[in-house]
Amino acid sequence: MAADSTLHLAHCLASVGVSEILKITERANALRRQGADLLVLGAGEPDFDTPEHIKEAAIQAIRAGQTKYTVLDGSPALKEAIRRKFARENDLVFAQDEVTASAGAKQVIFNAMMATLDAGDEVIIPAPFWVTYADIVTILGGTPVVLPCHEEDGFRLTAEALEAAITPRTRWVMLNSPSNPSGAAYGEVHYRPLLEVLLRHPQVWLMVDDMYEHILYDGFCFVTPAALEPRLRERTLTINGVSKAYAMTGWRLGYAGGPKALIQAMASVQSQVTSCPCSVSQAAAIAALDGPQDIVRERCELFRQRRDLVVDALNAVPGLSARRPEGAFYVYASCAGILGRRTLGGEVIDSDTAFARYLMDEGGVAVVPGSAFGLAPYFRVSYATSREVLEEACRRIAEATQRLLA
Ligand SMILES: Cc1ncc(COP(=O)(O)O)c(C=O)c1O
Repeated sequence: MAADSTLHLAHCLASVGVSEILKITERANALRRQGADLLVLGAGEPDFDTPEHIKEAAIQAIRAGQTKYTVLDGSPALKEAIRRKFARENDLVFAQDEVTASAGAKQVIFNAMMATLDAGDEVIIPAPFWVTYADIVTILGGTPVVLPCHEEDGFRLTAEALEAAITPRTRWVMLNSPSNPSGAAYGEVHYRPLLEVLLRHPQVWLMVDDMYEHILYDGFCFVTPAALEPRLRERTLTINGVSKAYAMTGWRLGYAGGPKALIQAMASVQSQVTSCPCSVSQAAAIAALDGPQDIVRERCELFRQRRDLVVDALNAVPGLSARRPEGAFYVYASCAGILGRRTLGGEVIDSDTAFARYLMDEGGVAVVPGSAFGLAPYFRVSYATSREVLEEACRRIAEATQRLLA
């Protein structure tokens, strides 16, 4: 009998489907190809271009022959730029062997989890969360312990919930401020009680994702736990990257600072996966981190105006409500008020997924349902797109919502 040649997929992939966001993007693209007039508010990347001086640095690097493998987890020049950034902006002083660079913050997270998780190890993830956190943990055989964070608490994790979730198997807590998808940010007053809890549990490490550090509004003061609580420094990994602040998502360059032993272990993982990050992107990242920062502030102000546009427009729609987020470029709006209503075709909108599907099929707008981020019934609007598109999209959302029958 011939051997079975059916593709065998690894068990660890069984519960990690294609992400809801990709599915929506694919469906939106398919509808557009068929001629549908659809506005897509799903993008997790700035609509701006990478600043010229950064592109220029990359071109110079190519001309100078910086086209070969570099040191595994970042060239010495990039590591110096990362060290300067942490010291200048976050009051964090790292040695060169305490920083690392990868092909995006996503790879930084993967390296850290791969280097530290054994089967059954638990990772606490406050919801709503960036889907990648839970999927990476699952792929590696760990157990994501998802803690719902309520809108009344500003979508922030509370010390009580954290304390109650810690077990002897807890390896990590993942915090993300400002957050994708809620835009919620933690100030010192929000972090302190959580750090107090962690001080009582020495086996628990803290992974902090500061990716949206520079997209913060209304004078909200950015802080990062390793700077706030030096006693946790030896078990905190502080992650950041150039994707969002400098509109460099395609360059794939993320970085982190943390204890030397962890950084070394992460480099071992990376050595067998991608070797070093792209040499040209490393040169571009140096220009981004060391270069002028005014463009980052100017773009942040544009994002703030768009945030207000979207929040105000959604709050004007009966049945929808949106918290005004402190940062990032997402609004996480509640659709609890319209659950149970019916479409003209008789379909009951019984979940955020049904609402998002309805908006896409009959409203001409693509958004991501909150269930994709572990907290329903919400939907995420990315406002990383032009004012004109946002105004029209909000008008369509209002109209489609008002068409629903009570
Ligand atoms: C919270 C958060 N962290 C990290 C990333 C990924 O960043 P990178 O492009 O550096 O992999 C994203 C991208 O959407 C994100 O939303």
